[in-house]
Amino acid sequence: MEKFDLIIKGGTCVLKSGLKKRDLGVRNGKIVVLDIGSEHPATKIIDASGLHIFPGLIDTQVHFREPGLTHKEDLASGSLAAVQGGVTTFLEMPNTTPPTTTKESILEKIKLAKSKSLANFGFYMGGTAENLEELKKAKDIEGCCGIKIFLGSSTGNLLLYKREKLEEIFKNTTGIIALHSENEEMLVQRKSIRDNAKTAHAHPEWRNVETALTSTKRVIEIAKECKRKVHVLHITSKEEMDFLAENKDFCTVEVTPQHLTLSAPECYDKLGTYAQMNPPIRTVDHTAGLWGALKKGVVDVIGSDHAPHTKEEKDKGYPNSPSGMPGVQTIFPVLLHHVQMGNLNLEEVAKYLCFNPAKLYGLNKGHLENDFDADITIVNMNEEVEIKNEDMASKCGWTPFDGYKYKGKINYTIVGGNVVVENGVVNSSHFGSPIKVNQRKF
Ligand code: DOR
Repeated sequence: MEKFDLIIKGGTCVLKSGLKKRDLGVRNGKIVVLDIGSEHPATKIIDASGLHIFPGLIDTQVHFREPGLTHKEDLASGSLAAVQGGVTTFLEMPNTTPPTTTKESILEKIKLAKSKSLANFGFYMGGTAENLEELKKAKDIEGCCGIKIFLGSSTGNLLLYKREKLEEIFKNTTGIIALHSENEEMLVQRKSIRDNAKTAHAHPEWRNVETALTSTKRVIEIAKECKRKVHVLHITSKEEMDFLAENKDFCTVEVTPQHLTLSAPECYDKLGTYAQMNPPIRTVDHTAGLWGALKKGVVDVIGSDHAPHTKEEKDKGYPNSPSGMPGVQTIFPVLLHHVQMGNLNLEEVAKYLCFNPAKLYGLNKGHLENDFDADITIVNMNEEVEIKNEDMASKCGWTPFDGYKYKGKINYTIVGGNVVVENGVVNSSHFGSPIKVNQRKF
C-alpha cells in the first residue's frame, strides 16, 4: 500500500455541503479523502478527534511591504503572521517601493517569496497610465493573481483614475482587476478637512461615503461599457453595498473584518490613529449595512487588508500618521469571534475565506476534497483564546483587536502538505509556492 505523507484522522471537516466527519490523507501535496477509520501507512498522523478542519485560509488582500518598506514588514514576518493566524495563502498588493508595475518587479517578488514565505503566495501587478504592455503579461506569470488599481491615492504613489486609461486596461487585459475605490478629485477638494484636523475622528469625514460611492458608481459604469467584471475591495458603506448589489453581474465584492467589527466614533476614541485606514471605518449604521449585505449574498470574499505601520509612524498624530492596520494574523480569529457572538457560522467563515476566494481566482485550493492542494487549518473550537499585541508576528507589533476573544485555537497550519505550525511551534524549513490561477472553478 502506498504510504501517505500525512494522515489527519477523526476530525470534523468544514465542507461546502456542511460539517462532516472525514479522514484526510496527504500525498505529494494533494488531499486524498479516506474512508473514516481506515488504516494506511503514513509518515505522520494527526489525531484530530474533537477538532475542526478548515481548508487552508486564503487572505485575498495583504501589504507585506517588501521590497522597500521592510521596516514595517517583509515576506518572512508577514507570512509568519499569516500561518500563525491559520492563513495558508496570501495575495499581496503592489504598493511597495518600487511599486510592482513591471514583469521584472513581480518576478523579483516571486523569487524572494520562494525562499522567504512560509505561506503560499500571489502578487498583484499595479496598474498605471503607462504600463499596459506589462499588465498584458500578468496572465502568463505563475504567482501573479491579477491587477490592482488605486482609483484614489492611499499609501504609496500608485494612482490611476483617467477614464480612457481605465478603459484601455479593462479592454485589453484578462483576469482579476482589484480596485481601491475612492474619488481622487473629491479627496483633493476636501483635503482641508484633513489638514485642519487634530484627531483621526476627521478621517471618515474627509474620506466620506460620497467619496467612495461616486468612485464606485463611475468605475462600474466603465466596467459595464467594457463588458468587464471588476473586484471592488474593502467596501465601507451601506449605500455602496446597495449599489453593488444591483450590479453584481459586473463586480465581485470584498469587505474586511475591521469594517465589520469596529465603528466610529468609538474606534477613534479608543485607538486614535491606529484605527485610521483607507477607506475609513464609519459609523455603526454602515457596519450594520455591511453585515446586511453579507447576509444577502452581495459580499464574495473577506480580506484583511493587512497594512502594517510602525507604532512610531502611527504615533505621529493625525494627519501625519499613515493609514492602515495589520490583520493577516487576526482575520480568522476575528471571524471566529463573530462565530462566538452568533453573527456567523463555520460554513460562512469557510465561504468567505476558502470557497469563494478559491473560486474567484480559480485556485486548486479552498476545499477538503480529492486532488485539491493540501492547505489545511485545524482548530479546537472548545478552546478560548485572547488576541494580544505581544503575540503578533508582524513587525509592527500591534493589532486593533488586542483583547478580543474567540473560540477556536489554531492547532495546525498545513501548507502544501507540510505542517508549518503545530501547537504553537513554527517549522520554518518549508516555503510556500506561487499560486496558479484559473485552474478550477469549484
Ligand atoms: O489604509 C490603507 N493602507 N489603505 C490602503 O489602501 C493602503 C494601505 C497601506 O498600504 O498602508
